[in-house]
Amino acid sequence: MQKINNTSLKNYNSFGIDAISSSFNIVNSELEITSFLKETNYTQPIILGGGTNILFKNDVDKDILKINLKGIKIYNETNTYVDVSVGAGEIWDDLVKWSIAKNYGGLQNLSLIPGNVGSAPIQNIGAYGVELKETFLNCRAISIDSGSIKVFKNNECKFSYRSSIFKEELKNKYIISNVTFRLSKKDHQINFSYEPLRDNLIKKNISIPTINDISNSVIEIRSSKLPDPKIIGNCGSFFKNPIISKIDFKNLNQKEKNIPFFNISFNEIKIPAAWLIEKCGFKGLREGNTGTHNKHALIIINLGNATGKEIFDFSQKIKKAVLRKFNILLEEEVNII
Ligand code: EPU
Repeated sequence: MQKINNTSLKNYNSFGIDAISSSFNIVNSELEITSFLKETNYTQPIILGGGTNILFKNDVDKDILKINLKGIKIYNETNTYVDVSVGAGEIWDDLVKWSIAKNYGGLQNLSLIPGNVGSAPIQNIGAYGVELKETFLNCRAISIDSGSIKVFKNNECKFSYRSSIFKEELKNKYIISNVTFRLSKKDHQINFSYEPLRDNLIKKNISIPTINDISNSVIEIRSSKLPDPKIIGNCGSFFKNPIISKIDFKNLNQKEKNIPFFNISFNEIKIPAAWLIEKCGFKGLREGNTGTHNKHALIIINLGNATGKEIFDFSQKIKKAVLRKFNILLEEEVNII
């Protein structure tokens, strides 16, 4: 374990916020995690993965535990699938690239999502018609209260849209140390139901895409509208897409025309937060050191030296404007510390 006092978090969060951590602890194994918990008397630390979904509003006085467990290992294999065990500190997209290179199917639609493997189940990452829960087998997690290790199977994680048991009733109760996935070796499930993905493949005259084709198209689409956090600080979607009732949607539709929507269930509709934000005049708007991306209204950006507080205040302005205009309360997708 490596312990650093009073260090900047700038390189540890994709917003690039220069907050100071009074106690920054990098852990490389389950044993280091359990020893750390014991030493600190099982006090709740702030758990940091890739830092791609977190906004540091202020300097941090609590212990930060930076999860750095590495390793991608096949531990079970048949003619049709492989089970892969991955350290929580591996970079998500490195795992996706590894799987594509080996022609293992399942993760291709989730290409280029920023973040680490250990954070992926917490919010059930999803993109272009696919969610993590479709390939997730189980994860190992360490109880913050006792240091004991528990394996959570897929059905125990209560996955839902951008959520899981680790974001709800077990929030801040466990540290995920390892995740296992079941990936296909042949007859891959190819999903290009998401319209922009289908359009991209048609444009390239690809009618029967391979997992590599899907991955390339997803990378093209993401790169064309989502800013690279290495160049412009951001955390992807700042808010979740709100889910409203069909009755509320009908009322909304009478006031606003052509609202994009996705049917979720027989009485629920998901509408893009980006559309609501754009309609409130925030797309591409800049205010001081922050603003929204000019190609995507849901992405709040750091234009250089924004503080966490500045970004937070701007996000709350957006939230208020959407509430006033549409009577819809946006919920943050990013974790605010
Ligand atoms: N739209 C606008 N204005 C904009 C951008 C989009 O009106 O500036 C509308 C368009 O109608 C568009 C719709 O919003 O069709 C949806 O936009 P997009 O396809 O970009 O997807 P999203 O709903 O904004 C979600 C995820 C993304 C994921 C994409 C692709 C959430 C909160 N976000 O975004 O995930 O990459 O779908 O599947 O569910 C993330 O979580 O950080 C993230 C980037």
